[in-house]
Amino acid sequence: MSNVAQENAPLLNAIGLKKYYPVKKGMFAKTQQVKALDGVSFSLERGKTLAVVGESGCGKSTLGRLLTMIEEPTEGELYYNGQNFLENDHETKALRRQKIQIVFQNPYASLNPRKKIGTILEEPLVINTNLSAKERKEKVLSMMAKVGLRAEFYDRYPHMFSGGQRQRIAIARGLMLDPDVVVADEPVSALDVSVRAQVLNLMMDLQAELGLSYVFISHDLSVVEHIADEVMVMYLGRCVE
Ligand SMILES: Nc1ncnc2c1ncn2[C@@H]1O[C@H](COP(=O)(O)OP(=O)(O)OP(=O)(O)O)[C@@H](O)[C@H]1O
Ligand SMILES: [Mg+2]
Repeated sequence: MSNVAQENAPLLNAIGLKKYYPVKKGMFAKTQQVKALDGVSFSLERGKTLAVVGESGCGKSTLGRLLTMIEEPTEGELYYNGQNFLENDHETKALRRQKIQIVFQNPYASLNPRKKIGTILEEPLVINTNLSAKERKEKVLSMMAKVGLRAEFYDRYPHMFSGGQRQRIAIARGLMLDPDVVVADEPVSALDVSVRAQVLNLMMDLQAELGLSYVFISHDLSVVEHIADEVMVMYLGRCVE
């Protein structure tokens, strides 16, 4: 396979991704493999949404973790604009860390309660860019405006916010490095039904404005109906539809 970016390649292309976890059931038992993901393939175009649905335990979050580098696949291939994204060199890893971001289900658990919103949003810029403190603050404030958070929230702590606002903060954090792909793992499942539509609408507006591609993980088909261009149904670690 070529390692050179290709013009007509899909933005993201996964081929036969697998993740096996070794588990031991009891002290004298043999180590067995849990096949959390057992050969999943898809392609995702720029600006589009791939919904990943399936019942609990079918491997959706595992897929999300593999895409975002929280974990590496046991087997399989992943291409970004035709470039091999599983290459182990520093440059590829840095690019993957920037281009694919994740937003988690639970905005109560995923935001550090001891850090102010401004600090939480600035962090990816501190770690991954050379921007000055002033430039970072400007970028944070502009992203806060994009997700509908007022500038005075900059110095507040996560506990001062509602679930919907926290998920806006988590989305803003995911967008700080200008990614192309956002993996959203059940982004509205922990929210009140009344605010789900607001957060989904925000995600769709951001997609249109920024040209984002989404891998939208959900156990609930009705949530993804409006937002998905394609739906991948998973069952026991495989695509079934
Ligand atoms: N670190 C791990 N070690 C062992 N098994 C694991 C590990 N992580 C996940 N699994 C197993 O892999 C399978 C898939 O888990 P995963 O969390 O990806 O499912 P899911 O589709 O996201 O489920 P849910 O809808 O409940 O979030 C499950 O059987 C799970 O128990
Ligand atoms: Mg999950």
